[in-house]
Amino acid sequence: MTAKIIDGKEISQAIRKKIEQEVKMLLAENIVPGLAVILVGDNQASKTYVANKQKACKDLGMHSVLIQLADSVSQSDLIDKINELNNDESIHGILVQLPLPKHVNEKDIIEAISPEKDVDGFHPINIGRMMTGQDAFLPCTPYGVVEMLKYIGIDLEGKHAVVVGRSNIVGKPAGQLLLNENATVTYCHSKTDDLALHTKQADILVAAVGKRNTITAGHVKQGAVVIDVGMNRNDEGKLCGDVDYDQVKAIASYITPVPGGVGPMTITMLIKNTVKAAGRRRQIALEALN
Ligand code: GUN
Repeated sequence: MTAKIIDGKEISQAIRKKIEQEVKMLLAENIVPGLAVILVGDNQASKTYVANKQKACKDLGMHSVLIQLADSVSQSDLIDKINELNNDESIHGILVQLPLPKHVNEKDIIEAISPEKDVDGFHPINIGRMMTGQDAFLPCTPYGVVEMLKYIGIDLEGKHAVVVGRSNIVGKPAGQLLLNENATVTYCHSKTDDLALHTKQADILVAAVGKRNTITAGHVKQGAVVIDVGMNRNDEGKLCGDVDYDQVKAIASYITPVPGGVGPMTITMLIKNTVKAAGRRRQIALEALN
């Protein structure tokens, strides 16, 4: 079997077309969905991610603001900036690009963002809402993974999904979102004994470890759907995921490439969340009139 390639760029474009319609409807009411991105320091990878997020906003006619702060910024100055954006009516979504410098407490920063503007879906209120099945801003990468699976017509109900990785921003919420879709979920991580024993049972295998070649042919069941969230560099400096793509594509039924798989979906989901935030503000304003 040679796996079908799940084209994240194509799926993203299809979803962005729909989002564009929603943006147009908001623009017609003089509401310009606005995203503010705070970038602290000089990390080159973060700069690239942030530039891509801004471009996606601009391409759709949205308002986009970049706030660049020095690596030495104090935690209280950063929180003051977030508060300013929390109170700024032209901003519907706020994103603080991670990682942050060591002297800044990431948890305090995430909690300073208004949950109603937390388009990353990292605030504990949104995580709690997600876990209890309430309407929430969903974390963009796992949200993108589930949307991808839906787009290609994978029915998740009753399927065994195995998530490898347990980070707060990808692994843990990916498992939760798959559970919300009625999959049976197993989490594996760096301390799991006999990783292959578990991953070989997966109908859907999500690799979110951050280490290349974690998933090889011996880890995958024939016909499994393999989603690679990893973003690593190989010895030649080329981008690669957590999955040994050449080996696994001979076994899986579907596979995401790196680059061009999950990556484009993350930004699309961020835009979707920002437009949703703007729509919610509109709804609140309308209800206040009545
Ligand atoms: N750094 C790497 N991925 C992300 C993300 O999805 N959101 C933020 N804020 N920072 C990140």
